Amino acid sequence: MRCAQLASTRTQVVFGAGNADADLMFVGEAPGAKEDERGVPFVGAAGKLLDELLAGVGLAREDVFIANVLKCRPPANRDPLPAEIDNCRDYLLEQVRLIEPRVICTLGNFSTKLLRGDPTGISRLHGQAEIVTIGSRAVRLYPLYHPAAALYTRALLDTLRGDVARLPALLALAPPAQPEPIAAVPAAPEPSDPPAPSWAVPADDDSDGSQLGLF
Ligand code: URA
Repeated sequence: MRCAQLASTRTQVVFGAGNADADLMFVGEAPGAKEDERGVPFVGAAGKLLDELLAGVGLAREDVFIANVLKCRPPANRDPLPAEIDNCRDYLLEQVRLIEPRVICTLGNFSTKLLRGDPTGISRLHGQAEIVTIGSRAVRLYPLYHPAAALYTRALLDTLRGDVARLPALLALAPPAQPEPIAAVPAAPEPSDPPAPSWAVPADDDSDGSQLGLF
């Protein structure tokens, strides 16, 4: 167990849900109370908004994969701690590796910062797609405001709707070129004995050692 505290306060792990073959993946922050209860991401109020936004571009939950930075609910929905993000990171990277999405929508600051490897915030980045390498895979990253934030602020909701409306065009682009696989490094030669000095090499069969002057 990597996070003793989260493991002791969660009801269950919320691993992720949806189509494991999806071209489009969403990454939120962490499960909330409803998600912790049901074991499924984005099933509360923010999830309802996400469903509605997806429907607006002709998509359903079953068409996409939805995951979070943290797989366990932080107590009282507090922000994820840096150590918790670190502990959970490999699970998300493995999800990306297995699903092979063409586009990843990061929802809010935590997933955007984690997957870009940079502290730039969502208000500067939302709605701007860029190609990033995650693990050994190139993917289009498309940061969006978190639906929970958009539920509180009307202006953010309008912006989020506008950004989501551009998703179909993004999904229609050719997939990003994948980086060349790193060539296998040839195995290092086995350390060998240094060549024997010529005086030690018998010219012919010397099983009795006579030519080496042993007698
Ligand atoms: N907010 C998130 O970031 N993830 C969820 O699963 C639910 C709400």
